[in-house]
Amino acid sequence: MNDKIVLTGIKPTGTPHIGNYLGALKPLIELSQNHKTIMFIADLHALNAEKDAKALKQHTYEIAALLIAAGLNLENAILFRQSDIDEIYKLSNFLMNVTPKGLMNRAHSYKAMVEKNTESGVDVDAGVNMGLYTYPVLMAADILLYNSDIVPVGKDQKQHVEFARDIAGYFNNTYGETFKMPEPVIGEDIGLIPGLDGRKMSKSYDNTIPLFAPSNELKKKIMRIITDSKTPEEPKNPDESTIFQLYKQFASESETETFRKMFLDGGMGYGTAKTMLFEKIDSVLSKPRAEYERLLNNKQEIDAILQSGADIARKIASRTIEKVKKKMLG
Ligand code: ADP
Ligand code: TRP
Repeated sequence: MNDKIVLTGIKPTGTPHIGNYLGALKPLIELSQNHKTIMFIADLHALNAEKDAKALKQHTYEIAALLIAAGLNLENAILFRQSDIDEIYKLSNFLMNVTPKGLMNRAHSYKAMVEKNTESGVDVDAGVNMGLYTYPVLMAADILLYNSDIVPVGKDQKQHVEFARDIAGYFNNTYGETFKMPEPVIGEDIGLIPGLDGRKMSKSYDNTIPLFAPSNELKKKIMRIITDSKTPEEPKNPDESTIFQLYKQFASESETETFRKMFLDGGMGYGTAKTMLFEKIDSVLSKPRAEYERLLNNKQEIDAILQSGADIARKIASRTIEKVKKKMLG
């Protein structure tokens, strides 16, 4: 897939945590080492839920800074803000006219809302705005606007890429061959990264460790990881320990084996294990964290990168819009 164009959007819905990084962002950064990559911060997709413009802007900067600091290869990748490309609003609107309403009714996130409303006995569409309802059309527009080949996504987003293919198909059938068919690629499942309480690390559980938390905050969070009540002497099962699960994501194989043995052998208290985890994460992240903080204190540098990405994206996008307008409007 070396000559293929990889495209992906990242929704700026909160300060990125270790789960987001390992599960979603790190694999994307790795892809950018060997592939032409189109990457944007999907701020328009956040609008159906996020009504605080200031927070949205700040989270957009945070994701951009994180990607750059964590090694996104800007030789191969363009990075921009979705909302900076006017053509996205146009394509999304054009695509509405070939998208059956029934397709939107089948979208997982809309269906989940309908089910929840039905269970609570309120109107099926309570709390559903058109941004949520037409979310898949906007996402199809993202994918089709830039002629992408490959769309790496998590399992939860696979249906959206399939919808983009459906919508491309409806358009091509109506107006003749226009859009390339994008392929969803589901990355290797690294499993769920546990949070402080042992459940999936997630903003909704308030159990996250922000990826680039300052050292003292990182330490405080790690010390709060919930453990069982085994004494230091007792042997412990590493595979059931949040401390070990997090450690192995940042350590080398041999360090992980040593740590595993320390769990199994007994003689190590959880306090010591947490300190080792803190020291490992802190040392791995200290360099990119400093760069992240530097960028966030120099937002004009981030803006410059986003602008130069947008300039390239706009060129591709405007060619697509010209083609689409001609086919649809003559
Ligand atoms: P949250 O659950 O905190 O709201 P999101 O749903 O915004 O996180 O996650 C964005 C991406 O990060 C998802 O595509 C998912 O693959 C990844 N991700 C989030 N939490 C985890 C986790 N605990 N383990 C692995 N991947 C995760
Ligand atoms: N909907 C995706 C998410 O919630 C983000 C996204 C928006 C996206 N546009 C995209 C992902 C285009 C891949 C391609 O994670």
